[in-house]
Amino acid sequence: MSTVTETQTESRTEAETRTGATRRTPSPKTVLMCRPEHFTVVYQINPWMDPAKPTDTALAVAQWQTLHDTYVGLGFEVHLIDPVEGLPDMVYAANGGTVIDGIAYGARFTHEQRAAEGPAYMDWFRGAGFDVREPEEVNEGEGDFLLVGDVILAGTGFRSDASSHAELARITGRDVLTLNLVNPSFYHLDTAIAVLDSRPGQEHIAYLPSAFDEPSLEVLHERYPDAILVSEEDAAVLGLNSYSDGLNVVIAARAAGFERQLRDAGYQPIGVDLSELLLGGGGVKCCTLELRR
Ligand code: ARG
Repeated sequence: MSTVTETQTESRTEAETRTGATRRTPSPKTVLMCRPEHFTVVYQINPWMDPAKPTDTALAVAQWQTLHDTYVGLGFEVHLIDPVEGLPDMVYAANGGTVIDGIAYGARFTHEQRAAEGPAYMDWFRGAGFDVREPEEVNEGEGDFLLVGDVILAGTGFRSDASSHAELARITGRDVLTLNLVNPSFYHLDTAIAVLDSRPGQEHIAYLPSAFDEPSLEVLHERYPDAILVSEEDAAVLGLNSYSDGLNVVIAARAAGFERQLRDAGYQPIGVDLSELLLGGGGVKCCTLELRR
């Protein structure tokens, strides 16, 4: 037992010396999740989905449960929204809205198949005491909105309309920075960027450069010169679709290269296998909606 601890401490110190990485500290997290009781793939709205491929709902639930239990083990406060029959994508809670400073900006989905999820999530937010703002513009919640420090990074190109970026800026009073996504496989911002540390002054992200157009890349490069650049291979298993508390980073178990990069930067990656939910085009972060009071 003590040998294991010593080895871990040693490699951690080594990593810090090698990269000059600051000591990472976890922040408490509160999240909303939705058990995939009705998960299946019956329509195709992203390149990952193929209704002809069989899905295994029981396996999806079991894999999701591991993610849920991992969060609980990390001390996160995990809330659950009831899954609705006929809304197979409801498991991807990140798309249910954007919750910042106690304000819940609702989602308005691009595709008709997911439209009913918007009101379902807004009902939950209302019941939980959040100040709900009904959206006028098309947006898919935290799938395309990532809070990094005091700024909200906002994706567009496939789902959320750029007009929703202005709406979110108005509602939250925060700076919203538009980023253009160009690869249909990385159709939501949270498939192309991972927020590793969101504390103001400590901002740290990872991203897949080829998922963005040139002007957006310039912005990212300039704002986050120490960002981790992730390989195509790791992004292809939705490795970037991860969730970090500032120290522990829950990632796709198959993203081996990203896992190494995270360790070298002083983080503690925790791999989980969500292969079944990958059939719907989602991973760790997609199943996670952060609630910020
Ligand atoms: N099947 C869902 C869709 O295409 C997957 C959503 C993934 N969610 C995310 N936050 N990236 O809308």
